[in-house]
Amino acid sequence: MSEVLKATAIGPSNIAFTKYWGQLDSVLVLANNDSISMTLGTCVARTTVCFSSEYGEDRVTLGFMGGEDVDVVGSKSARVVAQLDRLREMAGVDLKARVLSHTSFPEGAGIASSAAGFSALTLAASEALDLEFGRKELSIQTRLAGSGSACRSVYGGFVRWRAGETSETSCAEQIAPADHWQLRDIVAVVSKGEKKVSSLGGHRLAPTSPHYARRLELMPERNDRVQEAILTRDIEKLGVVTEEDAVDLHVMAMTSNPPVYYWNEGSVRLMREVREWRGEGVPCYFTFDAGPNAHIICEKGYEEEVVQRVKSLEVASSVLVNEPGEGSRVTLDHLF
Ligand code: DP6
Repeated sequence: MSEVLKATAIGPSNIAFTKYWGQLDSVLVLANNDSISMTLGTCVARTTVCFSSEYGEDRVTLGFMGGEDVDVVGSKSARVVAQLDRLREMAGVDLKARVLSHTSFPEGAGIASSAAGFSALTLAASEALDLEFGRKELSIQTRLAGSGSACRSVYGGFVRWRAGETSETSCAEQIAPADHWQLRDIVAVVSKGEKKVSSLGGHRLAPTSPHYARRLELMPERNDRVQEAILTRDIEKLGVVTEEDAVDLHVMAMTSNPPVYYWNEGSVRLMREVREWRGEGVPCYFTFDAGPNAHIICEKGYEEEVVQRVKSLEVASSVLVNEPGEGSRVTLDHLF
C-alpha cells in the first residue's frame, strides 16, 4: 500500500517597519539587527505539500494570481527542496514530495512572496510530517529555510524578530495581535520586473557600505521607537521611523560596493507625493523593501483617500490593500 502524508497551510507576507538587512551568519540565517513588521491579511500563499511513496522525485509548482501554474527548477526549487530535506531528516521520512503553492497576489508585485511561500511551506511540510513544532520552533525552522523575514510571518499582527546570536534564540515574537490596530499597507506596484539583485545579494553587500556600521548602532533605538509606536497606536511616531529606516536601507544599497539602485521614477514620485499629502492633512508614510514598489502605511480611516490619490498619479499598474492579518496556519482546503 502506498504511504501518503499531506497537509496544506496558508502563509502570509509581511511588511517591515524596521528592516532586516545584513547577516551575522548566512548559513543559520541570523540577522545583524532586530526587525519589526506587520503581517499582511490579503497577500498570502496557500501551499499543499504531499509526501508519497508513489513519487520518484520532488516536484515544485508555483502559481501567481492571474498566471498559470509553472514547475520551478534550478535555484528556485533548490531552496524549497533543501527545506524539505531538512524537515524530512528531522522526521526520519524518506518520501519524495509534490509541492503546489498559489499566491493571492501577482508575481513580482514587490510583495515578499518568499516570506509568504516559505512560511506556508514550512508549516505544511512539518504538519504533513507530524513534527508538531510549537510557534517558536516553527519560527526558527521557517527562518532556516533561508528567507529570514519569513520567520516573522509565523505570527499574526505586529511582530518583532529578535535577531539573537544563536539559531535557538533567533526567532520572532508577537508584539500585538492583528486586531490591536486597524493599520493599512497600501502597495503601489510601479514595476513588475524581477529584482536585479535579490535580498540575499543585498544582505551580502550590506557591510560594504561605509554607513553600515552606523546603521547597526542606530537600530536598537529605532526598534524601540517602532515597538512603542505600535503599542500606543501612534501613526506619526511609527511613520517617521518607518520612513527613516526604509530610506536608510536604500542608502546602504546605493552606497554598497557594487551599488544597487532599487528605486525607479515611480518610487521617487510616490515618496515626494506621500510627503506632500501629509502636508495636506493625510497622515500616510512610505516604506520600500529591496525593490521599487511603494508600501504606504496609514490608518483605516484614510485608506480610501490614499488609494484614490495613488491611482490618480497613474504611476502604479495596480494597488493592493492589506489589513493586519493572522500568522501562518493550517487549512484542510488542499490545492490537490
Ligand atoms: C528588505 O532575506 O528575508 O525585505 O527571501 O527575499 O524575502 P526574501 O528576503 P529576506 O530579506 C528581506 C529584506 C527586506 C527587509 C525585511 O523584510 O525585513
